[in-house]
Amino acid sequence: MFDNSFISSVENIIKEAGNFIQTELKHFDKKNIQSKNTFDLVSYVDIQTEKFLISNLSKVFPDAGFIAEETSNQSNKEWNWIIDPLDGTTNFTRQLPSFAISVALVHQNDIQAGFVLNIPLNEFFFAIKNQGAYLNHNVIKVANNLSLKDSLIATGFSVTRFDKAQQHLMIVKEIITHSLGIRRIGAAAVDLCYVACGRFDGFFEWYLNPWDVAAGALIAKEAGAIVSDFSGKDNFLFGKEIIAAQPHIYQELLKIIQQNSNSYEIQT
Ligand code: IPD
Ligand code: CA
Ligand code: CA
Repeated sequence: MFDNSFISSVENIIKEAGNFIQTELKHFDKKNIQSKNTFDLVSYVDIQTEKFLISNLSKVFPDAGFIAEETSNQSNKEWNWIIDPLDGTTNFTRQLPSFAISVALVHQNDIQAGFVLNIPLNEFFFAIKNQGAYLNHNVIKVANNLSLKDSLIATGFSVTRFDKAQQHLMIVKEIITHSLGIRRIGAAAVDLCYVACGRFDGFFEWYLNPWDVAAGALIAKEAGAIVSDFSGKDNFLFGKEIIAAQPHIYQELLKIIQQNSNSYEIQT
């Protein structure tokens, strides 16, 4: 079902959308920024990109519904496209080169295919379930550093919910004192792809939505990462907590998260 022609159809659609975003970046006027929530930004670029993706992806797979950030949060279909038309909107509005399009195809909440275009670097990541992960059509694998002390970790801070801020800062402190450091690049889909290709060893964040993580989580998994919620279970798509890490350091990172967020049974 997910043959080369399916993959290249989706790739062409996403790349055309990426060209639109890149073109708008050149003359983007900050007056176009609106706030969905105090710190949660959106513009016509997000909205038009989403419309374009929905109308074109529905031709590729007409049976699938849509769960898309700006227009449709719910669908009761068996198959669904899960779309973030512009992950890293705040970066985009400030010309910080870290923003992406994230598209996943899920069957009854099981992610079957994931596509992320890291727009400023023109990097196209994709994965099909059980068929590996690719960057610009070359196979990618997670990093293999043996311990946290040789690892680089990424995280993100929610722009809508702050009740975990204290725990999050404690986790950050543990990580920066036991690893090569921490990065916050501002686009969760990119963070997950960077775990997949070994630029990061691990990533975690609270309160992400399905469209932030669906595609990147499959890409990370297919590249060899362990992806879970903070209990070590599978509820990361809708569960508002995700950790993705290469296998050597997954347990160490999960333990730090659990020990500092006092609501988890520690995994040994
Ligand atoms: C955001 C990014 C960011 C994460 C935020 C998300 P958006 O997505 O993924 O890294 O920390 O929580 O909302 O709003 O730019 O699509
Ligand atoms: Ca997002
Ligand atoms: Ca977005």
